[in-house]
Amino acid sequence: MTAAPSVAESVGASVFDCVGNTPVVALRRLFPDPDVEVIAKLELMNPGGSMKDRTARFIVESGLRDGSLAPGSHLVESSSGNFGIALAMAARVHGLRFTCVVDPKTTSANLAILRSLGVEVEQVTEVDEAGGYLLTRIRRVQELLAGIPGAIWVNQYANDRNWQAYYHGTGAELATQLVRPPSYLFAAVSTTGSILGCSRRLRERFPGLRVVAVDAAGSVIFGGTPGRREIPGIGSSRVPELCRPEEVDEVVRVDDVDAALGCRELLAKEGIFAGGSTGSVVAAIGRVLPRLPRPCRLVAIFPDRGDRYLDLVYDDDWLAAARARRADTGGEPRA
Ligand SMILES: Cc1ncc(COP(=O)(O)O)c(C=O)c1O
Repeated sequence: MTAAPSVAESVGASVFDCVGNTPVVALRRLFPDPDVEVIAKLELMNPGGSMKDRTARFIVESGLRDGSLAPGSHLVESSSGNFGIALAMAARVHGLRFTCVVDPKTTSANLAILRSLGVEVEQVTEVDEAGGYLLTRIRRVQELLAGIPGAIWVNQYANDRNWQAYYHGTGAELATQLVRPPSYLFAAVSTTGSILGCSRRLRERFPGLRVVAVDAAGSVIFGGTPGRREIPGIGSSRVPELCRPEEVDEVVRVDDVDAALGCRELLAKEGIFAGGSTGSVVAAIGRVLPRLPRPCRLVAIFPDRGDRYLDLVYDDDWLAAARARRADTGGEPRA
C-alpha cells in the first residue's frame, strides 16, 4: 500500500484569516511614462471590502489576547463606513456586542450592511457647532459609555493599535513585496493610522522614502478651514490624536470632483473599480508627477472597492452637482 501524499491544508479559522496579503499591481496604462512606475497596493481586496479590516482585526485580536476584551464585551465606535463594517464583522466572529454611532451622511448602503451584521445603530441628527456631525457623534459615544456598564470605546482616532495594524500588516507586506526602493508613498488620510503605520515600516527598509498624504479639500487634519465634502473615508473635521505632521513630507488636497474623475479614469484605463479616496490618490499622483525627478517609483495605497460609491463618484448626477458646487464656490470647498 502506498502512503497517502502529505498535503498541508490551508483553511482559515474565520474570515479574519483572509485579511491582508493583498496584491500589488503596476499601473502601466494610467501612467505610461517609461521613466515612471506607479505601484498600487490593492487593500480593496480585503474580505470586508477595505483596509479597515486590518484595524478591526488587530484591535479586536490584540484586545482578546491581552484580556482587555472578552466574548460578550460591548464595543462602541463612531464610524459611518468601512471601520464600522469591519468592526461589525469582528464582533460577529468573536461574539462581541457593537453599537455604531452614525449620522445622516451615512449612506443607505452602509446602514443596510451594518444592520444586516446585527449592529446596534445609533443615529445622531443634530448638527454640531463646527457645522458637521462629528462632535455630536462623539458626545453620543460618551453618553453610551456612561450608560452601558463595561462598554469600551474603540476610538480609532487615538488608538495606537490603529497605526500598528498597518505597521505589522500593509507596511510589512510592502517591505517584502518591493525589492527596489520606492521614492514616494501616496496614501489617503482620515485617522492617519494607515499612512503612519505603512511609512514607519517602509522607512526602516527604504530610509529615503518621501511620504505624501492625500487629504480631502475642506478637511482640517493638516490645518486650514473646514469645508463641505461628501466623499466618505477621506478627511476629518478634527485633528486626530494619532496625527504626526512631522512624519509627512507633503500634503495634497483633492476635492470631490477630482476624486470622482480619478476613480473613473482608473476604472476606464486599468479596470480597477475603487472607492472615492482611491480616486483622490490617483488625482494627487497626476498632479505631483510632472514635477518629480525621473526615474521615479511610487507606491500608492488603494483603500476600498467602488461598490459603496455607486450613488456618489460613479453617479453622473452626483458629479454634476459636485461640479456646480465647485463652480459656485470658486473652487474652494464651503462649509
Ligand atoms: C476608504 C478610505 N480611505 C482612506 C481612509 C483613511 O485611512 P486612515 O483612517 O488610516 O487615515 C479610510 C479610513 O476610514 C477609508 O475608509
